[in-house]
Amino acid sequence: MRKNIVAGNWKMNTTLQEGVALAKEINEALKGVETKCDVVIATPFIHLVPVVEAVDAARIGVGAENCADKAEGAYTGEVSAAMVASTGAKYVILGHSERRAYYHETAEILKEKVVLALANGLTPIFCVGEVLEEREANKHFDVVGAQIKDSLFDLSAEDFAKLVIAYEPVWAIGTGKTATADQAQEIHAFIRQTIAEKYGKEIADNTSILYGGSCKPSNAGELFAKPDVDGGLIGGAALKADSFMGIITAFE
Ligand code: PGA
Repeated sequence: MRKNIVAGNWKMNTTLQEGVALAKEINEALKGVETKCDVVIATPFIHLVPVVEAVDAARIGVGAENCADKAEGAYTGEVSAAMVASTGAKYVILGHSERRAYYHETAEILKEKVVLALANGLTPIFCVGEVLEEREANKHFDVVGAQIKDSLFDLSAEDFAKLVIAYEPVWAIGTGKTATADQAQEIHAFIRQTIAEKYGKEIADNTSILYGGSCKPSNAGELFAKPDVDGGLIGGAALKADSFMGIITAFE
């Protein structure tokens, strides 16, 4: 059976000291709490080592927010998947809409990143999602379907089965405007169907598909109650231990 996952995406927030303090606070808050999901925190690269050291690995998986599309070499300023894995991190967010929009990450680049992440034993949390104009033009199924096919459908079934998918409508990210639970369910079911057509029902049924975009304690329960919504990728609300915990404990 697929796992429920709540993953925090810290983006470019918190100094090293603030980040370690936040990780410790979340780690403490989880003590003695029974959760119905795996918990992940994805941090800036330089936070990875001390955050891995600060948390109980049995309760919290640590992840990076990106990795390079090259294995190693003369790529000044880049951080490879092997480097991420060497910190003890287990996850990497790839294809976030902010990376696609501001850093021009294409389907081809993301394809390379996914291959390198998997080759280094990392679990990619692969993000897809449409912008507002695409939703208004009723093109969201085409856009999301293409994002999945173009970057992921050259993977073997064995490799595809290691991925986590995050559906994040760009119009909902950081805007306070959440997709309704029905909107999320509709497109999550479409994503699962798209996966089933390529890799079969068993792999599709076992793939965790997270919702992201202004998810908070007050709406997480309704979203997570939908059959194809297996948790969330959380930005703003992951930067405070109490709101992040409110989402982690939102599963019925
Ligand atoms: P948000 O961000 O929760 O702040 O909308 C989600 C994300 O971008 O992963």
